[in-house]
Amino acid sequence: MDPVRTFLQTFGAPPEVMRFAPGRVNLIGEHTDYNGGYVLPCALSMGVTCLCRRREDRKLRLYSLDFPDDGIIELDASEPELGGRWTDYPAAVVRSLAVFGAPLTGGADLMFKGSVPPGSGLSSSAALEVATGMALSDAFGLGLSGSELARIGQLAENRFIGVNCGIMDQFASALGTPYNAMLLNTQTLEYSFTPIDLSRAVPVIVNSMVKHSLASSAYNDRRRECEAALSALKSRLDKPTLCAYTPEEFESIGGVIADETVYRRARHVISENDRTLKAAEALRENRLNDFGRLMNLSHASLRDDYEVSCPELDFLAETAQNAEGVFGARMTGGGFGGCTVNLVEPDRVESFVGMIRSAYLKRFGVEAKAYI
Ligand code: GLA
Repeated sequence: MDPVRTFLQTFGAPPEVMRFAPGRVNLIGEHTDYNGGYVLPCALSMGVTCLCRRREDRKLRLYSLDFPDDGIIELDASEPELGGRWTDYPAAVVRSLAVFGAPLTGGADLMFKGSVPPGSGLSSSAALEVATGMALSDAFGLGLSGSELARIGQLAENRFIGVNCGIMDQFASALGTPYNAMLLNTQTLEYSFTPIDLSRAVPVIVNSMVKHSLASSAYNDRRRECEAALSALKSRLDKPTLCAYTPEEFESIGGVIADETVYRRARHVISENDRTLKAAEALRENRLNDFGRLMNLSHASLRDDYEVSCPELDFLAETAQNAEGVFGARMTGGGFGGCTVNLVEPDRVESFVGMIRSAYLKRFGVEAKAYI
């Protein structure tokens, strides 16, 4: 279906702007972004396209080519209801634009077409938020930068959707490019790119088809545990974030954390931050075996210390780690379902995908999907 033609048929006039925002896969650096640490995501070629046309009145009409329900938002309604539907995300972006000091001066018709599988940990919601922000910024001449669009998307999640997420997903969506790993310092928002040499290694994403629910309390629980860890560590050595502590510092003062669970949460975050920096260096130097080893360690730490994996993700990661031609494999994203990311030798990709899909089908009776 041609989205421009559908826009014209639906709204009676052609779109003025059309913008695309990608989903992301995180190569390493999990649950570090709300602890002031490093992350290493990569933008996907899958994403969300938003078509937009300004309106004379103060209405926002929202239409999706993927979901049956559409929506109308009155810009002047004090607190529009958010009701657990896809339209919450663009509605939340419009509200954060106002909080950010860039309120819309009029209404708009918006149409969306997405290709990121929702609930799979590949940031379909961040792509939806960023695509909305990009299209509105262009249509209304708001001149928002990529970093501002990312912060507006994060604000939409934190304040209006009720997910206390970090900045990684929206930042990777707003500023990432496919096949380039983005090393982002989530404390300073400085970032740099390292191209992935596809002649040597191909990132393959395997979808467990277990839908994660980030809004579920587990994510927010982890955040609270990290805050508890930080305040305990601060009593011995005052640093601004959990990721500001080196593994050596943690080794010597970590005992100050009385709660064993909180201790393991901090151990994951601090070691993961260190792994992320080492992995970025390994990627730059094309040391793919080292990169893969760090991915495997990351998975173990997320499974044992951070406890955000699940049997399906463990099975996929462990099966991949033992397969021929795989540098490394780990769960990616917030956890509790979603996808693994695997770094695979190019000429093994096809056999790897066939092997892992059939092993998964045999073990769980579910058809996993793979994205190359
Ligand atoms: C989700 C959040 C991110 C990040 C990851 C875990 O994707 O939206 O901000 O915290 O989980 O690394």
